[in-house]
Amino acid sequence: MYDDLKKYIIIIVGILIMIISIKTCDNNDFYKNIRVIDNANRIDVLVNKNYKLKSDFIPNNLVKLNLKYSTDDKYMVEEAAYNFEKLSEEAYKKNYKIIAVSTYRSYQYQEKLFNYYAKTKGMDYALSCSAKPGHSEHQTGLAVDVMGSNEDYDLFEQAKEFNWMKKNAYKYGFILRYPKGKEKITGFKYEPWHYRYVGTKIAKEIYKKKITLEEYFK
Ligand code: DAL
Ligand code: ZN
Repeated sequence: MYDDLKKYIIIIVGILIMIISIKTCDNNDFYKNIRVIDNANRIDVLVNKNYKLKSDFIPNNLVKLNLKYSTDDKYMVEEAAYNFEKLSEEAYKKNYKIIAVSTYRSYQYQEKLFNYYAKTKGMDYALSCSAKPGHSEHQTGLAVDVMGSNEDYDLFEQAKEFNWMKKNAYKYGFILRYPKGKEKITGFKYEPWHYRYVGTKIAKEIYKKKITLEEYFK
């Protein structure tokens, strides 16, 4: 009798601990207490589900990427573009292809993209992989989605270039922005193709510590 009671108590305490740990992992603050970013031209700008860019924000010095490193006319902030081209050129020398498929996106373009996902795949899907307008770092001109020689950004993880990128992107100031296992921190599903320019100093620290940009600023 006493033993049964003990067993029940242990089970109930176990369930309670599980519920509490799931709750603390869950970030229910996404898209709440949103702060508007003032100085969005900084290369270390944090844009996520809680920090928003103004709808009329356009980065100061966008330049067109050399077509050798992009699918068509793609724009990035000059410093990011310069370093992306350097990275891509270094990859070329090793017989790799790292090509930009999406870079700067305007607020209005992001709005269309998010609405398209919500309409065709449902709101939960859209929220998991697409930023609402103003919340995408593509609007900063510092982010780049890449594809490798398998020519599908969605399958970049399977491209031979992925491993090289994982080990070398930081040397050119880029970080893998939405890593696997960090979804509760970044608010987005794992994106092996999305890299963000933050400069070499920050990129190195984030790479070495295996952290996200959110954790870097904590
Ligand atoms: N896919 C990333 C999160 C974006 O929409 O900016
Ligand atoms: Zn992206």
